[in-house]
Amino acid sequence: MADKSVVEKEKGGKVQIFDTTLRDGEQSPGCSMNTEQKLQIAHLLAEMNVDVIEAGFPIASPGDFEAVKRIAQEVKGPQVAGLCRANDKDIDRAWEALQHAEEKARIHTFIATSELHLVHKLRMTESEVVNAARAAVKRAASYSAGNVEFSAEDAVRTRLPFLAQVITEVIDAGATVVNIPDTVGYTTPWEYGQIIAFLREFVPNINQAIISVHCHNDLGLAVANSLSAVMAGARQVECTINGIGERAGNCSLEEIVMALRTRGDIIPFYSDVVTEKIVPASRLLVATTGMQVQRNKAIVGGNAFAHEAGIHQHGFLMDKRTYEIMTPESVGLKESKLPLGKHSSKRVLANRLKAMGFTFSKEEIEELFMRFKELADKKMEVFDDDLLTLVQGDSAEDDMFVVNLIEGSFNSESEAKAYVSLECDGKDKEFECKGNGPVDAVFKAIKEITKTDYRLDVFSMDNVTKGISAQATCSVVLEAYDRTFSGHGVHTDSIAAAGMAYTNALNKIVKWELHQLEVFEKEESDKVIAS
Ligand code: KIV
Ligand code: ZN
Repeated sequence: MADKSVVEKEKGGKVQIFDTTLRDGEQSPGCSMNTEQKLQIAHLLAEMNVDVIEAGFPIASPGDFEAVKRIAQEVKGPQVAGLCRANDKDIDRAWEALQHAEEKARIHTFIATSELHLVHKLRMTESEVVNAARAAVKRAASYSAGNVEFSAEDAVRTRLPFLAQVITEVIDAGATVVNIPDTVGYTTPWEYGQIIAFLREFVPNINQAIISVHCHNDLGLAVANSLSAVMAGARQVECTINGIGERAGNCSLEEIVMALRTRGDIIPFYSDVVTEKIVPASRLLVATTGMQVQRNKAIVGGNAFAHEAGIHQHGFLMDKRTYEIMTPESVGLKESKLPLGKHSSKRVLANRLKAMGFTFSKEEIEELFMRFKELADKKMEVFDDDLLTLVQGDSAEDDMFVVNLIEGSFNSESEAKAYVSLECDGKDKEFECKGNGPVDAVFKAIKEITKTDYRLDVFSMDNVTKGISAQATCSVVLEAYDRTFSGHGVHTDSIAAAGMAYTNALNKIVKWELHQLEVFEKEESDKVIAS
């Protein structure tokens, strides 16, 4: 893999990264954020060194206004943009929020240009749209020292000569960035590239503005379309963390940035994004919105740096580049994962057991491998704690934490509450607290009692039997010591099942800690014997 600094020096130019997680991203169902949460994400985006943060749509709500204002006041580094329609009231409100960013404030104004939108939504003629766009850009430029972005909403479905006319007019009126959105995710890479090339040829003043692209992912082509536009002359890409956004989302920041970084050999452009912040940003967004990332999502999905097939694991152990085109470190992960499952080989199992501190003879490995395959047929993934059980046997008697009682309650008028009582190393302890739903409250109470705080990686709930007395089965995966620990719980009350699963995972972590201690003590005593 080429060194980043070397690649950058050889590249043709910079692509500005315009992050719209807090505006278009926040428009996705279930992704609303409050001002404090938006500020936290904006600070991380600044650490990532994105060029522009679109902080919100100030006229949309007092909350949006406040968030844009606070981000403009408090976040240092990137330019801060606020969205507004092409009318005086919207623009004035946007400036009221943005003015605190002073020279770094960008007003982003838009109006639709496609016939479909003109006839059925705006009920305006083409010349009325041109006049509104010109007036909006002029007004915005008078506030933000000329830092004005204009978007032609639904540009991709706009008559090309009219699109060229609108873009010419807004640049003439003072727009310094012209955005050509694929609002409905309709275009394809070659068509989009041709649209950008057309504008570069037929908009006489195009060199006075930066061409920006803003792609939605309805056909799963947002990143490919954005890359094609860059190759055709666009120099700003609008994107979001985890690709969140209206409907199927926007161009994903992590994918476009890593495509630029990884394929510098054929895409001669770079971004200034600190790619090592990608996974922390993705995780912060998931923690903030509760919107999970699919496991096989490029770059930030749980499986993006995981190899399960025996042949792949074997190749990876010989030379990582056989199956990895990027390093996990480059996106902010510590290391790749070799999850153990039914496709894993004996060699990989032996390696993992060795890394866990066990030494076995060839015959013992043969026997363990047979039992491992039986287990792997039943379980999707075999975790280190499962291996520990495979080697040491399972005895609930050794559990550090034993559930006495778990109760959660919730009604629409009050907050969720939980009461948890655990026996901790022989002593009864209890805790009562409120939470963001009864399961959250139960987990909070368990964390408080056990004085632990591990990252919850997976949470799933199923009914194993039907009917009124159905048993709920809950599974959780916690992350600790750069490993994952699974826990399961079964109960007629799903809240209790969740608490039991969480406690089960904690017990496995404690057993892992004890095992690590044993390995350490054995190594120390071996050293003493050797000396
Ligand atoms: O998708 C779109 O067209 C937009 C514009 C407001 C830029 O989000
Ligand atoms: Zn959009």
